[in-house]
Amino acid sequence: MAHEELPVPVLSSLEPVYGEGSAFEEAELRFQALKSKFSELFGCQPDVFARAPGRVNLIGEHIDYEGYSVLPMAIRQDMIVAIRKRTDGEKVLRIANVNEKYEMCTYPADPSQACLCAFDVDLKNHKWGHYFICGYKGFYEYVKLKGIDAGEPVGLDVLVDGTVPTGSGLSSSAAFVCSSTIAIMAVFNVNTGISKKEIAQLTCECERHIGTQSGGMDQAISVMAKSGFAELIDFNPIRASDVQLPPGGTFVIAHSLAESQKAVTAATNYNNRVVECRLAAIVLGIKLGMEPKEVVSKVKTLSDVEGLCVSFAGNHGSSDPLVAVKEFLNEAPYTAEEIEKITEEDLSSVFRDSPTSLDVLRAAKHFKLFQRAYHVYSEAKRVHAFRETVLSELSDEDMLKRLGDLMNDSHHSCSVLYECSCPELEELVKVCRDNGALGARLTGAGWGGCAVALVKEKIVPQFILDLKESFYRSRIDKGIINTNDLGLYVFASKPSSGAAIFKF
Ligand code: ATP
Ligand code: GLA
Ligand code: MG
Repeated sequence: MAHEELPVPVLSSLEPVYGEGSAFEEAELRFQALKSKFSELFGCQPDVFARAPGRVNLIGEHIDYEGYSVLPMAIRQDMIVAIRKRTDGEKVLRIANVNEKYEMCTYPADPSQACLCAFDVDLKNHKWGHYFICGYKGFYEYVKLKGIDAGEPVGLDVLVDGTVPTGSGLSSSAAFVCSSTIAIMAVFNVNTGISKKEIAQLTCECERHIGTQSGGMDQAISVMAKSGFAELIDFNPIRASDVQLPPGGTFVIAHSLAESQKAVTAATNYNNRVVECRLAAIVLGIKLGMEPKEVVSKVKTLSDVEGLCVSFAGNHGSSDPLVAVKEFLNEAPYTAEEIEKITEEDLSSVFRDSPTSLDVLRAAKHFKLFQRAYHVYSEAKRVHAFRETVLSELSDEDMLKRLGDLMNDSHHSCSVLYECSCPELEELVKVCRDNGALGARLTGAGWGGCAVALVKEKIVPQFILDLKESFYRSRIDKGIINTNDLGLYVFASKPSSGAAIFKF
């Protein structure tokens, strides 16, 4: 059976996920600490645990929500959720964190009431516990849709321990939402009949409740990852194909130390780009002969009009959708009025069903359609070029060089066309390249967070030391970070395994 058709594994020991040696010992200590804190807080042991990893995206940025394939790998940093059903009849969810920075959150167990607290009343006040409620809401929607009897809602006690740095482009949010959803499925005993693929789709929809119109990359890799492989993730339907990375190269992740909370800045950053891509697709559709009314109802993403762009290019001796982008989209930013002349409809009416898109319209002065479409179509091609390079007959040396070049091109496009970088990331990417990286780029949503660099394995220790001197030293001297914490901010990463349930 295909890997994605299987359910999330239920394990009785930590080795299959954490391996042996120091990683295993660290994990054992974490689970011990989680258990004792759980009984200290709630007076009993958890029924079950679930874990889901963060991820680093190697290439394919800001194209998943446009329907294009991406190429991430899971990292060892993860979120562990310990959970138990309450037996005292109290219909309350208590969500606690081993990190004292996060105060315990409580919600009513009735899913409609819990969601009302989290999303309808409170969306502007981003409490960390809302990410658990994303999974809770998704779970109840799922069982209702599938006619699964999960019984009456009961109170739950939950304690989480996350090691994915937050707001860093490594998807701490997806690790949180996926581990929560899977823990809820496990505690209600409905996990065995649900495939990883379904959970990946469901958790992607779950996380959108937080207010970002994210694609499905983070959840798909967190649920479907396999140890030792990066994955090419396709959407509609979700599918994961193993990608064996070439020997001799290592991916080093380095934090720019600028934190970017996606949900908080959604209207001007993340959701803004999703709206701009939709507008670019609509304008292209109309310029390429579709009726405005038809386009607005049918065209959601740039992949929806790629066929039309390619046909147009075909008439000009090319198969590249960028030919149509260059012909039909203006490089100068569009005002809302300019776009409305083309769509023959108010933008507020085009987006009437999406409150978070209406927030974008209210916040935006103009829309950069040419730049966003150019990035998406060219980045989608780079993902396939990356995969083909890995499968090619090139020598290891040439292969690594080519992959590095693709990563550099991706960063340039993210920075210049998609404008999702920031000064700290620009500095860090340059420092990586100056110190011998074959390629370096921002990873994840951007506007802060991490860069990923491809480095020859034999120079990794020296590369990390050089980064410490040339990027982090001045930040340590200014007291922004502590020398002892450096390992949290810069580390080499191998592809780790996906989500799992633990019953000991
Ligand atoms: P990106 O989406 O760019 O890959 P990210 O997922 O780390 O990066 P966000 O999507 O902004 O960033 O999600 C970060 C939020 O997730 C935090 O602000 C917090 O609310 C929640 N979160 C993640 N990990 C934890 C944790 N261990 N404890 C509490 N809250 C957490
Ligand atoms: C965030 C989203 C993903 C993806 C990336 C950018 O991590 O959650 O779906 O869009 O940004 O590639
Ligand atoms: Mg996130």
